[in-house]
Amino acid sequence: MLVADRLIKNFGSHRAVDDISFTLERGEVLGFLGPNGAGKTTTMRMLAGCLEPDGGSASIAGYDCVAQRLEAQSRLGFLPEGAPAYPAMTPRGFVRFGLRARGFAADAVNRATGLAIERTRLGEAADQPIGTLSKGFKRRAALAAAIAHDPAVLVLDEPTDGLDPNQKDGVRNLIREMAHEKAIIISTHILEEVPAVCSRAMIVARGKILFDGSPKTLAEQGQDHTVESAFRDLTLERPQTRESVV
Ligand SMILES: Nc1ncnc2c1ncn2[C@@H]1O[C@H](COP(=O)(O)OP(=O)(O)OP(=O)(O)O)[C@@H](O)[C@H]1O
Ligand SMILES: [Mg+2]
Repeated sequence: MLVADRLIKNFGSHRAVDDISFTLERGEVLGFLGPNGAGKTTTMRMLAGCLEPDGGSASIAGYDCVAQRLEAQSRLGFLPEGAPAYPAMTPRGFVRFGLRARGFAADAVNRATGLAIERTRLGEAADQPIGTLSKGFKRRAALAAAIAHDPAVLVLDEPTDGLDPNQKDGVRNLIREMAHEKAIIISTHILEEVPAVCSRAMIVARGKILFDGSPKTLAEQGQDHTVESAFRDLTLERPQTRESVV
């Protein structure tokens, strides 16, 4: 469903993404971990067709993210870092806007909007201007827009960042609900999120993949000093308890 093949991205003389390759199948949820500046967002933006790679290529459902951008993007839901959205729009209006831009017919827009709002549990916030919503509800609005067209592939950049524990659980449950029918990649700094939602974990640092395996293997290797010291080197946020992330 998703292929990254030797992706490279430079910003001036700085190589932010350095030869990243992986494939993702339907049913997989990949947790993308790494310290600040590791290259997670840059990789995700290349997968989403927002940024052209300087080397290598990426494809979604067989469509090249640069040469066949529209075909690739129609099969992709992207939650950008910080979950940007138009503050004057309501979440319902924002989701409808995205669906109309994607060419959905009026009845399909209504159906898909209702479902996305229900799945992200926006409730009454669905009809309040986004600029007046709390951070958690803003993120849910952006998430609703990312999933509304029922894409086969989801690229979610820190979907639970800044959410309270209940909202984090809500988003994790939603990802689990969608997991069997989609290929999903989420970035996170929260190590406990990986076994909770992901079937696969990847650690990147300085633009390179350091680890690619199951959450179980990651946890086992976390016990030995190699990955443990990598975590320390990476200064990865690693809360010991749920409370510590509040
Ligand atoms: N548009 C840009 N122009 C210049 N440098 C950039 C740009 N975008 C990212 N970078 C640099 O690329 C590197 C990787 O950044 P990126 O945002 O991909 O990291 P990240 O892993 O998502 O980090 P974080 O955990 O903080 O979100 C950083 O050194 C960053 O400063
Ligand atoms: Mg980032």
